Amino acid sequence: MTTTRLHNSVCDLLGCEYPIVLAGMGGVARSELVSAVTLAGGFGFLGMVRESPQLIEEEIAAVRGRTGREFGVSLIPAATEPDLFEAELAACLKARVGAVALFWDLSEKALKRIRDAGILAVCQVGSAAEAEAAQKAGAQILIAQGVQAGGHVRGREDLWSLLPKVVANAHVPVLAAGAIADGRTLAKAMRMGADGASIGTAFLATKESFAHDYHKQRIVEAKPGTTVHTDAFHVNWPRGAFVRVLPNSVTAGKHGDPYTDDRKPIGKEGERTIWLFSTDSPLRSMTGDFEAMALYGGEASGEITAIVSAGERLRTIAAEAEAALSEPQADTRAGRAVPETESASPVCYAREGDDAYMGYATREELLAFLNELLEAERAGARVTARMTVEAGNGDARTVMRDVQRDEARWCAMLLKWINRLEGEASPRTGAFYEKCMAIADYSERLAFLNRGQGWVVRKLREMTPKVRDDAMHADFTEMLKSHETNIARANQLLT
Ligand SMILES: Cc1cc2nc3c(=O)[nH]c(=O)nc-3n(C[C@H](O)[C@H](O)[C@H](O)COP(=O)(O)O)c2cc1C
Repeated sequence: MTTTRLHNSVCDLLGCEYPIVLAGMGGVARSELVSAVTLAGGFGFLGMVRESPQLIEEEIAAVRGRTGREFGVSLIPAATEPDLFEAELAACLKARVGAVALFWDLSEKALKRIRDAGILAVCQVGSAAEAEAAQKAGAQILIAQGVQAGGHVRGREDLWSLLPKVVANAHVPVLAAGAIADGRTLAKAMRMGADGASIGTAFLATKESFAHDYHKQRIVEAKPGTTVHTDAFHVNWPRGAFVRVLPNSVTAGKHGDPYTDDRKPIGKEGERTIWLFSTDSPLRSMTGDFEAMALYGGEASGEITAIVSAGERLRTIAAEAEAALSEPQADTRAGRAVPETESASPVCYAREGDDAYMGYATREELLAFLNELLEAERAGARVTARMTVEAGNGDARTVMRDVQRDEARWCAMLLKWINRLEGEASPRTGAFYEKCMAIADYSERLAFLNRGQGWVVRKLREMTPKVRDDAMHADFTEMLKSHETNIARANQLLT
């Protein structure tokens, strides 16, 4: 089974095929869109800012019913009344979703609770300082949002200047957000060191999004370079929050001062009134004066020329990015920070001829070994991602999720060493994935998985004594121990 050229460690971590993430757009990214993106191989966030816990539960159940895959929920503490935020977060933790993304003011407390619940904590940030703070607080994935982004815009910095700064200090995967609606731009972000992209506007203009047709059509009609960065849409949000929208009568100043105390109703969603200058954007469930609502759209709006299915949009972006990444170019990737515990020096194996004579593995042997294990671990990460979801809410879920995170971690470690040895990483996923998933009975599959884990242990036992580089030796030893622990944990489920 060949994995797409785009498949990388953030995919292993999230349990998806492409490093293309649907941004958790409030109101717009509902179960239909999240399911469509997920089924097409991306990873989706439900945009649940200020939604009731009941809706969150229903939407989570709807995605699970449609996809059987992992996905996330996006929340915004700063824009949500504290009791409601507490109830929203509790609903996500109880449902044990795959990931929770937070945005705007960093809530260390919420982040810790997400992590403690074994859920991936994702933070969208708008500056290098914010990225550093989020990482310090325990964020496991960062989304670097450039000022080109649609919707609420956290920082003031252009994505292409922000991204390298965030990447340079990141020890966790980084997704780029803003300005990305096609594969060439995704490839550009990946060449600059991003692990993938979090995309909003391009998925808003799809058949499955919950945006009103009026909004989708306005995106399609938008001319390049016409979006507006404004703080006029502020009702419901902390004062001074900027958004990027398509131009309309509000941004043209036709409704007067947005900061007066007068409140003018311009629409309805059921019993709820939509006010002029509020942050509500037109949704399928609304009626009213859509032209005067917040027509969120990123700078890439001008490149979107049709409303297509989310699957088609994702596949087009992925295919373009794969093609663009295949083109030879000077390597412009930003350097990743090397964790303090690791040696930053190049691997001493690389060009020394006496390794074989000394009984150490040669560079070629190591590369073959690293790639063999990478394919196996990738298969393991995918199997365990599926088994986490299938486990429902039982004990197996926690174990499978932990094993999945470990498998993803080892994929990243193996890739790191392949890169350091200046080798070519295999794009394949081991046949183990298909063999394992062909076993219908959960316990039998778990036993098969454990046999696969045992194979990895044997391989590591054979190779580790032949590894001359201390840092690589330490990584292999840790990987071996972690596999032994995971085998024991899975065995407990089987007894
Ligand atoms: C309609 C819309 C609603 C959004 N709502 C949210 C939200 O609720 N939470 C959030 O973290 N980001 C939200 N964003 C911002 C996205 O996370 C992301 O930064 C942005 O969409 C990236 O730029 P792009 O739209 O050009 O792809 C929203 C964006 C749009 C377009």
